[in-house]
Amino acid sequence: MKDKSAKTDRALTAYVDSWSGAPGTLVDAIRYSLFAGGKRVRPALALGAADIIGGDDAVALPAACALEMIHTYSLIHDDLPAMDDDDLRRGKPTLHKVYGEALAILAGDALSTMAFDVLADSGNVRVIRELAVAAGVSGMAGGQVLDLESEGKRVSLDELRALHAKKTGALIRAAVRCGAILAGADEGRLESLTQYGEHVGLAFQIADDVLDVIGAEDVMGKRAGSDAAKDKSTYPALLGIEESQRLANEAADRAVAALEGFGPEADMFRALARYIVERSR
Ligand code: IPE
Ligand code: IPE
Ligand code: MG
Ligand code: MG
Ligand code: MG
Repeated sequence: MKDKSAKTDRALTAYVDSWSGAPGTLVDAIRYSLFAGGKRVRPALALGAADIIGGDDAVALPAACALEMIHTYSLIHDDLPAMDDDDLRRGKPTLHKVYGEALAILAGDALSTMAFDVLADSGNVRVIRELAVAAGVSGMAGGQVLDLESEGKRVSLDELRALHAKKTGALIRAAVRCGAILAGADEGRLESLTQYGEHVGLAFQIADDVLDVIGAEDVMGKRAGSDAAKDKSTYPALLGIEESQRLANEAADRAVAALEGFGPEADMFRALARYIVERSR
């Protein structure tokens, strides 16, 4: 993951450095959030999938960067007062606290479109569509709407699973798929990796919900207790911590099981599924 994170950071830096004619404040604001120390999980999944299929992750680098740009935009907007109203992200004050709400909205807007400029470097229309759909009305943005609509009430477990699949799962699934498609995966292997991505996506958001209750702010780099303060529908709110952790582990087990047809080349993904439920940030 360290290697994949370093490769992504180098490529992201080159992309941002190449933006000419942009207002300095806007680029500064984007850098502030983009290079604040995110875990780079989605790039690791895109590059990892390319490794598994083709043995070379370079083909997936534009996708890795585009995914991280969309993800960072989603966090900037997620933290706005109109949404989760949070003041700490990636160990620093949230973007709107430092640059103001207007710049935070516009930095997110710019990241969301520049992501597709970057992804166009892959020369692959199919992955452009994968990311557009994953971030859009039935994916991340749609999931964020369901998340807001679930505040102050308890949705069913089926509804919560569907909400998590959209707001977080869609982008994680797309990360795996884009990497695999760019490396030339056949339909069978793409389907297995898609299954992996879906289970890992659910495990990831359950773990995030659990950390919101039991995590340490200085380790997570974001506030604990944010979900309870907003009376969000989360796994711990619905089922308690222990059952949530059990279901996160079960999702990780299913993710690993989806890799059955792969050999040692998929060991990084097996370890990543474990990391996603055992992480403390
Ligand atoms: C946080 O994502 C938001 C969710 C979708 C749960 P990450 O936990 O990947 O955040 P960073 O990128 O490491 O900051
Ligand atoms: C965010 O979920 C999902 C996104 C699409 C950004 P959360 O609201 O739980 O993410 P955190 O806990 O603020 O990182
Ligand atoms: Mg949120
Ligand atoms: Mg939030
Ligand atoms: Mg959360």
